[in-house]
Amino acid sequence: MPTPSKLLILVGTMTGTADYVAQAIELDCADLIGSIEVRKMDGLDTSVFDEDALYVICTSTYGSGDVPDNAQALYASLDAQPRFLGHVRYGLIALGDSAQYPNTFANGGRLFDARLADLGAVRLGEPLVLDAFTVDDPEAAGMAWCREWLPQALAATA
Ligand SMILES: Cc1cc2nc3c(=O)[nH]c(=O)nc-3n(C[C@H](O)[C@H](O)[C@H](O)COP(=O)(O)O)c2cc1C
Repeated sequence: MPTPSKLLILVGTMTGTADYVAQAIELDCADLIGSIEVRKMDGLDTSVFDEDALYVICTSTYGSGDVPDNAQALYASLDAQPRFLGHVRYGLIALGDSAQYPNTFANGGRLFDARLADLGAVRLGEPLVLDAFTVDDPEAAGMAWCREWLPQALAATA
């Protein structure tokens, strides 16, 4: 499997925080890989995983531990159009709020993680969990995580 020259960050968000984190990474980590694209999950299905890219799933949590509205179609398609995703390598950024939602904390990201693993995709490294209760600057936390994660992820796919 050749090392991908693109990082594709798929964003599930309701009020924009996950998108801000992804955009901060796009700007900050441009020197680490050929290109970085931030794409909101709206209207996507499993075909998004056909690209020759390294992926980051960056999603918040809504409802009672659900994925955000704009991520519903993609998440559902992983059930409705299941197919082997053994070629997919991804990192995970899961946003939530442990004070308000202790029982379903950051579950939106965990849902994607479990479903992708079921389909054979391989998560690289530990997820970054961004807790709105404890993390004041999620963009800075996201950039710091990615600067460490991305070189290791690229080395793992080499
Ligand atoms: C109506 C509502 C429901 C939420 N449900 C959860 C939840 O079940 N678990 C959790 O960890 N966070 C939950 N959150 C918190 C958000 O996931 C968190 O604030 C996140 O940073 C928002 O990111 P976003 O702006 O990208 O949507 C909820 C927030 C709202 C407003």
